[in-house]
Amino acid sequence: MAGNSERTFIMVKPDGVQRGIVGDILRRFEQRGYKLVGLKLLQAPRALLESHYEEHKGKKFYEPLLSYIGSGPVVAMVWEGLNVISVGRKMLGATDPAKSEPGTIRGDYAIVTGRNIVHGSDSEKAAQREIDLWFRAEELANWSLTVNPWIYE
Ligand code: PPS
Repeated sequence: MAGNSERTFIMVKPDGVQRGIVGDILRRFEQRGYKLVGLKLLQAPRALLESHYEEHKGKKFYEPLLSYIGSGPVVAMVWEGLNVISVGRKMLGATDPAKSEPGTIRGDYAIVTGRNIVHGSDSEKAAQREIDLWFRAEELANWSLTVNPWIYE
């Protein structure tokens, strides 16, 4: 999927939910002009997290990461719009919050990588895989954002 229909998977991690940052993260993506097409709060089962983070299996941080993400509810979202994958990653800030610019989500709210508030897909392939993993097709809404002529040329 490309152009204005590009989609990405964004997840507010349990620390973001506990700290009451969900609304701010939603607001940032909405205000930027992106369209919300999927949204749910869930306690992710271990099997889902194993699939989501399968490329990191065996790394030193793998078990602490799974235990952290599984420690409470997360908010899973799908956002749509032009360049939403790369722009979304910029809005999140660097994975290590010590390297995140102020004004980014992690740069405003986080200190360490192991509590970095939010996840975002890092490529088109990852976005497709993660959306398919976390959402059933009927959970994604196909709707028109009527403000679009004021966002896109
Ligand atoms: S790698 O090895 O460079 O590919 O890893 P990286 O892209 O930096 O991070 C992959 C995901 O693992 C999370 N991570 C950690 N979690 C907890 N503790 C530590 N030390 C740690 N290091 C990396 C990192 O936040 C990435 O998860 P997501 O959900 O994509 O942010």
